[in-house]
Amino acid sequence: GGPASVYGPDAPRGPEGLLETGLPTLGICYGMQYMAHELGGRVEEGACEDYGSAKLLIKENTDIFRHLASGSQIDCWMSRGDLVLDVPLGFVPAASTPNTPIAAMFDRERKLYAVQFHPEAAHTQGGAEMLVNFVFDICGCQANWTISSFIEDKVADIRRQVGDGRLVCGLSGGVDSAAAAALVYKAVGDQLTCIFVDHGLLRAGEGEEVARTFRRDFHIPLVHVDARERFLTRLQGVADPEAKRKIIGEEFIRVFEEEAAKIPNVKFLVQGTLYSDVIESGTSTAEGIKSHHNVGGLPEDMELELVEPLRDLFKDEVRKLAGELGLPDDIIWRQPFPGPGLAVRIIGEVTLAKLHILQQADKIVTDEIKAYGLARQIWQYFAVLSDTRTVGVQGDKRTYGHLVAIRAVRSEDAMTADWARLPHDLLDKMARRIVNEVDGVNRVVYDISSKPPSTIEWE
Ligand code: XMP
Repeated sequence: GGPASVYGPDAPRGPEGLLETGLPTLGICYGMQYMAHELGGRVEEGACEDYGSAKLLIKENTDIFRHLASGSQIDCWMSRGDLVLDVPLGFVPAASTPNTPIAAMFDRERKLYAVQFHPEAAHTQGGAEMLVNFVFDICGCQANWTISSFIEDKVADIRRQVGDGRLVCGLSGGVDSAAAAALVYKAVGDQLTCIFVDHGLLRAGEGEEVARTFRRDFHIPLVHVDARERFLTRLQGVADPEAKRKIIGEEFIRVFEEEAAKIPNVKFLVQGTLYSDVIESGTSTAEGIKSHHNVGGLPEDMELELVEPLRDLFKDEVRKLAGELGLPDDIIWRQPFPGPGLAVRIIGEVTLAKLHILQQADKIVTDEIKAYGLARQIWQYFAVLSDTRTVGVQGDKRTYGHLVAIRAVRSEDAMTADWARLPHDLLDKMARRIVNEVDGVNRVVYDISSKPPSTIEWE
């Protein structure tokens, strides 16, 4: 997929002869338009776009749709601009949605398959099975990749890459960096030193908790750096989201380099970068959405070589890996937290006062969701401090206070997400507590946007 149009000047193209190899091929989204265009079908530019959830009508229960009944309707995730109007010779239309008359097309003879929607998105019902049908039945692949074989391969890769060099790893408290550290520790033992940079943009009490947990659960040497003032100073007066991300990313690595310089012979930096981070920061074909600070914001003069053993994994796989490596549940199930921390949840300039407000509001959201027993079912839940002020009345007095938003989403891999249908009594309790307990806040809203078109974080 991708936002390109087959008619654009830089439209991505497959290698010459790709569609004539006789190999099974599945085109998704732009891939379907590309296939139709290359093979003599008709693609219309920008006609009646189709975004978000759509009802997909299955014409026949064959091939990638073999687990679905003919004539059945399922929810699928659509995100397209252009539209395939006529299939190329040899293809049959295989599914449709109200806005996309040809939402799938198959040429069984040439083993060419294409879908306009996104089977890989969690919101496509039975989408994973479609991929399973393609990979196993049509391509004839075997499932011999397991987490333990992954660990074995990675341990060997890491040993090969680093030799007897020393490594540092940034721990954030989240499952990604913890799993990366544990995996590297398994490979090279105490060649690894973990560094926990407290940039002050963490949730309430989290800094102390991270240090405690890692000292207790791991026997890996851990350096705890209090860099709170340093980050706040650099963020002074900066309101642009990308500028904030870049500053935090750079500062983070600089602090690292300073700490790493104190350890003799450090050559490598371990990072828990996931595949979703790599995609969202823009691969050669996927468009950049935001610069995730463990990928896009690296300063060019960085002196350490990167070790990123989780680069090919999605979050669910990392959780399995973390379990296999023996990490405790509270780390495995900690909700994902962005590298730039609360800075991307404070709209506009980050100040100490705003940080305090957000930490208090966020703690209320977190505590209430946990108390309601929903923590495991919701991918992420947090508070956002907007830069909007609104008029309110408290104790018969006019107030002009901050607007806090609550965000709670369901997701499988952060690539797509839907807002969580939280019970009204829970929302009510969180909102009441926030306006009553957090000074300076007089209004709370609930964010009901899905991703796409929004993103999970506000910045
Ligand atoms: P968005 O906001 O892009 O977020 O929908 C997708 C997922 O990534 C997390 N996120 C980050 N993680 N460094 C990270 O390690 C970052 O800079 C970053 N920005 C966003 C976000 O919390 C969500 O889980």
